[in-house]
Amino acid sequence: MERKNFKFLWQTYRSYWPLILLAVLGSVLESGALAGLAYIIKNVVDDVFVAKSYEKLVFIVFVLIGLASAKQVGFFLKNFVYPVVIFRALRVLREKIYRRIINALPSFFRKTSPGDLISRSTSDVERFGEICSTIGTNIITETFTVIGIIGVLIYRDWKMFLIFMFAVPFLAVALNFFGEKRKKYSRKLQESFSSYIQHLNQIISGIEVVKLFKKKIFLRVFNKINQNLYQRQKKNILYETVYLSSVEVIAYTATAGIIFYGGLRIIKGEITPGDFFSFLGGVLILVNSLQVLQRGLVNLKALSPVIDRILFVLNIPQEEEKGVRFEGLKKEILYDNVSLNIDGNQILKDINLRIKKGEKIAVIGQTGSGKSTLVKILPALITEYEGKVLLDGTELKEYSVFSLRDKIGMVSQDVFIFNDTLRNNLLIARPDATDQELIEALKKAKADFVFELEECLDTVLGEKGSRLSGGERQRISLARIFLKDPDILIFDEATSALDVETEELVMEEIKKHFINKTVILITHRLKLIDIVDRIVVVENGQIVEEGTKDQLIEKKGVFYRFLTISSN
Ligand SMILES: Nc1ncnc2c1ncn2[C@@H]1O[C@H](COP(=O)(O)OP(=O)(O)OP(=O)(O)O)[C@@H](O)[C@H]1O
Ligand SMILES: [Mg+2]
Repeated sequence: MERKNFKFLWQTYRSYWPLILLAVLGSVLESGALAGLAYIIKNVVDDVFVAKSYEKLVFIVFVLIGLASAKQVGFFLKNFVYPVVIFRALRVLREKIYRRIINALPSFFRKTSPGDLISRSTSDVERFGEICSTIGTNIITETFTVIGIIGVLIYRDWKMFLIFMFAVPFLAVALNFFGEKRKKYSRKLQESFSSYIQHLNQIISGIEVVKLFKKKIFLRVFNKINQNLYQRQKKNILYETVYLSSVEVIAYTATAGIIFYGGLRIIKGEITPGDFFSFLGGVLILVNSLQVLQRGLVNLKALSPVIDRILFVLNIPQEEEKGVRFEGLKKEILYDNVSLNIDGNQILKDINLRIKKGEKIAVIGQTGSGKSTLVKILPALITEYEGKVLLDGTELKEYSVFSLRDKIGMVSQDVFIFNDTLRNNLLIARPDATDQELIEALKKAKADFVFELEECLDTVLGEKGSRLSGGERQRISLARIFLKDPDILIFDEATSALDVETEELVMEEIKKHFINKTVILITHRLKLIDIVDRIVVVENGQIVEEGTKDQLIEKKGVFYRFLTISSN
């Protein structure tokens, strides 16, 4: 295992050392009691069965009760405390991952699939917990047992112990060979599982579209993934079983050898029957412990790949709180020769645009022309651009991203509603807002429909029965911006799902409320541009026209063409 993986384990568990110590104590108690049991068999046979002594019988029974109690206490500590430690560590780990995801650089999500990220954060984390649990309950405990029992065996009859040791190199070879195989298949299995989750995730979130098309193709794609998963599970279990059974064959061959050789020595009078049974009892415990131990060790081989997958999430490039605080626009926004290339696609090209504080501009253009991309640069949702974007003369990248987002509000095309109360869905815009303020914002966004909901602000959104229509969702999104009351506002087709009348009412509110604010309005509805001072027309990632409505009409260019088409 690599150093970074050890470091991860250390960081994950180090604060729990008192509890881990307690659990290890449990392991020691349990193992010690088992070793004691193997030891005491000699006295049972020689003193009670052969010598027939009453006093020793009573004494031995007490010793046995003592051993059994110690074993039970150990069993409890080990089986309860290790998992509790692991569950605590997992809780912390899940939170860490969650933070890493919500603080990730936006560009990261353009390269990674959500399904993969989800499976790394769910099934890999759980698997990590399971393996750690094996380390505690199997590996640590059984290691102590093996050490204790070997001590008893050597003490009882070291010659016979040497015979048993012949089996060890065979065990080691089997361990290594099948362990490597399993490691490989365990990683492949996780990958298959991840594509399975990814596919389900896509199907479920797009179920309505899925239903409208032929299911045959979906099924074909799914069956391939499913078949793959099955094959890998099968391979995985095959290697595990072959491995375990080879361990058993080797171990029981050694036991047969011991019975033969030990029997000879009893006949010759070199050892007592007590020695023999104590040894045999020890060997049986040992074989069992070795099996459990080796199963644990095989599982351990899967630890490294699982940690690698978790570390990938923990190492997602993060947005950091650094740079100058953006306190709000004082003078102007300036796009200075801005271009953007994503995966070889030229999405924006040589954009030069000046927006004065308090100015209201409209960005129009055909679908896919780059309008959304252009504005997403401002709240640092896109950072890979070339050229300069200056806010009051300072490059945008010099500002702290969080301060930018505090001052820039954006109602985007994709409305985000999460599965919680309406109140929480609004509070994300301003966590300290009062109910009264929430209601006012809803009214401004013309979201009056919520007042008819039985539980009003406490209504849980997104659940069955309270699904919202597209226009309703948009109005909740708009209410957020009234709450947030930012300095620079971006409306990216924010009212596209509303009927014309409601849309105009909302626009009136926006005009009234954000009178002195800088506003960028992206829209396909040319009627709305009456509220702006200037219009920018984008085509294929370039600004092709710019001016007031009258200027552009006079120019009889792209805008004029749009206007004539839309008024027909
Ligand atoms: N994450 C991305 N990776 C690669 N290309 C992208 C990405 N996001 C957008 N694009 C591409 O950039 C171009 C501009 O997209 P953008 O969303 O800015 O268009 P738009 O003008 O807002 O269109 P619409 O009116 O449909 O909303 C499109 O060709 C789109 O395919
Ligand atoms: Mg868009």
